[in-house]
Amino acid sequence: MRDDLESVLFPEEQIADRVKELGLQLSQDFAGRDLSVLILLHGGMMFAADLIRHISLPLTVETLAVASYKGEQSSGQLEWPKELRFGDLQGRDLLIVDDILDTGTTLSGVRERMGEEFHPESIQVCVLLDKLRPRIRHVEPDYVGFEVEDVFVVGYGLDYNARYRNLPYIGVLKEECI
Ligand code: IMP
Ligand code: MG
Repeated sequence: MRDDLESVLFPEEQIADRVKELGLQLSQDFAGRDLSVLILLHGGMMFAADLIRHISLPLTVETLAVASYKGEQSSGQLEWPKELRFGDLQGRDLLIVDDILDTGTTLSGVRERMGEEFHPESIQVCVLLDKLRPRIRHVEPDYVGFEVEDVFVVGYGLDYNARYRNLPYIGVLKEECI
């Protein structure tokens, strides 16, 4: 798989260090609160799995599988599961965790609907990567691991057509592999 990458942008150790820092920050910021972490699947799973192990607070974990990407292009449309089932989120602080903020379609849509239907006390957004590009829908992330230029990246949960998620680092896919 390494041969399919043009370059490695974030090596394993750098990701681990930053995820630990974010976990410590979140542990401080949510101390004394009722925290629920909503992991967006599948992209956010690696990041979130590592992140929550660095949050030293009682919390609950929920998952949500939404999709907006086809290949390496955003479709601009958010596909939701038929049924949404979560534990009681009313009065809790909801932290939405995803791999990357790109056009904003996913996070703005999820944030809006979760607020309207499940009435958490607050909603915040935590992404490992913030892609520096114009958004289609405005989202202000509350916690960001790293900023990344407008390139298509894979690894550590991020996929291209469902592959490369298991790479332990993040890199840029070669043009010829797309
Ligand atoms: P948005 O809805 O356009 O903000 O995109 C968010 C989703 O698109 C993320 O949850 C990712 O799954 C996917 N995505 C966006 N950019 C990339 C990328 O560079 N590589 C892999 N997936 C990406
Ligand atoms: Mg995703």
